[in-house]
Amino acid sequence: MNDLLIVVGARPNFMKAASIVRAARQAGLTTSLVHTGQHYDAQLSQVFFEELQLPEPDHSLGIGSGSHAVQTAKIMVEFEKTLRAIKPSLVVVVGDVNSTLACALVAVKERYPVAHVEAGLRCYDPWMAEEINRRLCDHISTYHFTTSVEASNNLLREGIPAAGINFVGNTMIDTLLRFLESAKRRRTPERLGLGGKRYAVLTLHRAENVDDPAPLSRILDAVRLTSRFVPVVFPRHPRTQKSLVAYGLDTMLEPERVLQLEPLGYLDFVGLIAEASLVLTDSGGIQEETTVLGVPCLTLRTSTERPITVTSGTNKLVGTDTELIVEEALSVLDSPPGPIPLPKLWDGQAGERIVRHLCADLYEVEDAAVGHA
Ligand code: UD1
Repeated sequence: MNDLLIVVGARPNFMKAASIVRAARQAGLTTSLVHTGQHYDAQLSQVFFEELQLPEPDHSLGIGSGSHAVQTAKIMVEFEKTLRAIKPSLVVVVGDVNSTLACALVAVKERYPVAHVEAGLRCYDPWMAEEINRRLCDHISTYHFTTSVEASNNLLREGIPAAGINFVGNTMIDTLLRFLESAKRRRTPERLGLGGKRYAVLTLHRAENVDDPAPLSRILDAVRLTSRFVPVVFPRHPRTQKSLVAYGLDTMLEPERVLQLEPLGYLDFVGLIAEASLVLTDSGGIQEETTVLGVPCLTLRTSTERPITVTSGTNKLVGTDTELIVEEALSVLDSPPGPIPLPKLWDGQAGERIVRHLCADLYEVEDAAVGHA
């Protein structure tokens, strides 16, 4: 019997799972890694396994893309078979992607305890896919591992019992701190011709920003104007790439000012943002990574599920208004923020804390799961 079944599916899951898999193996636990295949491009998936020294998945479900219903349903059907074959003591899911909710739902209906890592984050946008995934996943999980006291409090307010909630720190930051020096050694800015220069980095992939041409063109206009003051590097997510072509917006940015690239691997991307003067993004994880790196971040959304990156970090919410983005970008470039203390417990040890906690409960859990043997 495997102790932990750990689910990964999409790009931001790999960094979080890497820390937990490593800590579990160091503690002598057996792990099964299941990859749903939500992300399948080499640059969104395989490169992370190589760079983060993640073991190859024990099971690959090969689901691929689809509407939310199709993707979620396909994952559920395949994951149910895999879970019945593996019979773990408990199932660990991370983050808020469709794979997270789909596998948590299957696991709990098969009567396995679920540990949700990165529980309790809320942006209070009820229509956002990730917010729906987080809320539902939290309400069916047994263990809730949070990255901040605020996230723990969100869970308590929703009536989740305190006994299952543990503030442990941030597994994505565990991986950032572990690989930061090797990322810097790759000298990615130099290789892109940006060595010793100021530059900004742009990432965009949220459905609400890139599926609709109106916000997408407002953001691109802001980037075009900002790029007159500072060169911009823009690794393009496949979803964004498709929209840029479909809406005829891929010529809005001046190629001599905005370097447009395929998605970067983890080490190149971390090496790039670590030296940036400014990051413009709609990602969740990058708001946290820039906070730890002390790099100013403008988030192209009106809400965030990670408010600690605003109150104790380098993040500012700027939405998608062209003028506001440019104004804030120029202001940050003119007066960069000074050093800030790291959020509490973002110290590289979250994976170990999670595993210590789960180890303590594992015998009890094995008793509860005896019906699956
Ligand atoms: C997903 C997550 C999002 C996360 C993001 C990180 C959900 C609801 N969304 O969004 O929370 O921040 O991953 O990237 O789970 N595609 C490829 N190759 C791939 C994967 C996707 O070309 O390997 C294209 C396909 O056209 C696909 C589209 O990207 O339809 C969207 O992929 P999907 O996994 O549905 O959502 P993301 O936008 O990547």
